[in-house]
Amino acid sequence: MSSLLFVCLGNICRSPLAEGIAKHIAREHGLSIEIDSAGTGKWHIGEAPCEASQRIALKNGIDISDLRARTVLPEDKERFEKIVAMDKENKRTLEDLGFRNTKLLGDYGDYGGKDVPDPYYATDAIKEVFTMIRTCVEDIFRKEFHV
Ligand code: 4NP
Repeated sequence: MSSLLFVCLGNICRSPLAEGIAKHIAREHGLSIEIDSAGTGKWHIGEAPCEASQRIALKNGIDISDLRARTVLPEDKERFEKIVAMDKENKRTLEDLGFRNTKLLGDYGDYGGKDVPDPYYATDAIKEVFTMIRTCVEDIFRKEFHV
């Protein structure tokens, strides 16, 4: 596998964190993988990641300030081998749009299929969100890329 797309609702809180963490791990291990993120919604297209996500990423040595939100596109179906949704609603939306190669982030890292909490209205959940995303993304790299 050499391409990975992370998807949430707005592409400003959760999936940019997953993208930043995944790119960081790929760089650390010298892996050449296409990594991107997108939202199922269109409200925040062109926006930078939310402040809480930017801040916690930077605290952990990852700068996500240059990422910009986009919506999922039909061509993502062909472009990405694996598409990882942050919660079940995102996954269902992708399936309704005809995406077949979707997984739930919470299926990795012993989270038992848990949804990544949406931090948009609860920024105090951001630490829990970051820990879950990092743990699950690390597990993806262990299972899919053997690092
Ligand atoms: P995200 O968070 O899906 O993690 O980017 C959200 C961002 C925006 C909205 C909801 C969730 N919104 O309703 O605009």
